[in-house]
Amino acid sequence: MKFAYQNPTQIFFGQGQISSITQAIDTTKKVLVIYGGGSIKKNGVYEQVQQALQGHQWVEFSGVEANPTKETMDKAVAIIKEQGVDFILAVGGGSVIDGAKYAAAAAHYDGDGWDILTGKYQPQVATPLGVILTLPATGSESNANSVITKAETQQKMAFAAACVKPEFAVMDPDVMKTLPEKQLVNGIVDAWVHVCEQYITKNAGALVQDGYAETLLRSLKALGDSYAERDNDLWRANLMWTANQALNGLISVGVEQDWATHMIGHELTALWHVDHARSLAIVQPSLLRNQIEFKRAKLEQMGRNVFGLEAGDDLAERTIDAIEAFYNQLDVATKLTEHGDDKQNAIDLVVERLENHGMTALTENQSVTPVEVRQILENAVA
Ligand code: NZQ
Ligand code: ZN
Repeated sequence: MKFAYQNPTQIFFGQGQISSITQAIDTTKKVLVIYGGGSIKKNGVYEQVQQALQGHQWVEFSGVEANPTKETMDKAVAIIKEQGVDFILAVGGGSVIDGAKYAAAAAHYDGDGWDILTGKYQPQVATPLGVILTLPATGSESNANSVITKAETQQKMAFAAACVKPEFAVMDPDVMKTLPEKQLVNGIVDAWVHVCEQYITKNAGALVQDGYAETLLRSLKALGDSYAERDNDLWRANLMWTANQALNGLISVGVEQDWATHMIGHELTALWHVDHARSLAIVQPSLLRNQIEFKRAKLEQMGRNVFGLEAGDDLAERTIDAIEAFYNQLDVATKLTEHGDDKQNAIDLVVERLENHGMTALTENQSVTPVEVRQILENAVA
């Protein structure tokens, strides 16, 4: 085990915490409030932000779409540059936060912001940003990651940079009351797969990382099992905190990570606009079955410690079945149907795109090559 770890994001957790931003943002700063398609105007979050920023100088940028595009966010970059913005407040889910991170970094670069996604430019400096989270799922509120789509070419790519880690994140579970069912379920599934991508890898004997990952998985399982009682403060608070902890950089320290499900899933979203979390539920069971011999020890451990399954030669197989059953229990499909009727064409498209993005040796073992992607999709595409 060898690592450096720092998570600089201050968390303001709990009901009524949006007012904390009054103190958290210096009044000398010119603030750009970035938000999405308007859900914050319907649930009182926008009013709370207005109230909290009364003593601040601020402007706003709205219309960040789900799966934010470079094209949209470049308009925010122009505002940051033209108006001398020196603090960004992102108010929304993963899309708004990721879009804000891109804008924060691209505003300090003279070239095309897409260079950040291709790796041609690696940002070392960004406009400071803070977050008010409205959808628990991605963990973007306190991590270094951002996923951006280039609409022109339908490419969805990710970057990570320490300089875009938010200074603070407000997590008030009350904001979840207006979330559509679909998004609430997406949050459980996305957080679940985040833990899996950092846990179902090589057996490294990392007791803290494994133990905490299992705690997070058991929490998500409990929230799924008690889904009928979701309209309560504690249920919401538990989901919001679990989803945050699932991808804040802690459980991945010193262990190998997979992320193949995410990379393949991103292509399904780019091509057919499948919700991010749903793309993962489609890919992951088939990927785990394909890679079972590499992952057997960890799957067995998960079967015992998360699902409480009995020992046996087929424990790893039963663990994957239990994961798939968990998605189905939440009414989340594990087969792709959005691609239309032409299955082979759909598989060709995904494989071709992954190859173009240089994703030809995925997982912690680099054992998912285009050949395995084809096999995985044979079983994941309807
Ligand atoms: O745009 P608005 O009006 O805000 O509506 C949003 C959007 O339509 C709505 N919503 C959010 N909060 C709401 C609400 N509606 C009612 N009440 C509320 N309180 O929900 C819709 C979906 O929002 P979005 O931000 O797209 O969802 P999510 O948080 O799941 O983010 C998904 C994006 O994050 C990326 C995904 O690829 C995708 O682009 N990811 C980012 C990661 C990261 N930065 O670490 C990791 C993830 O694996 C993921 O890839
Ligand atoms: Zn995800």
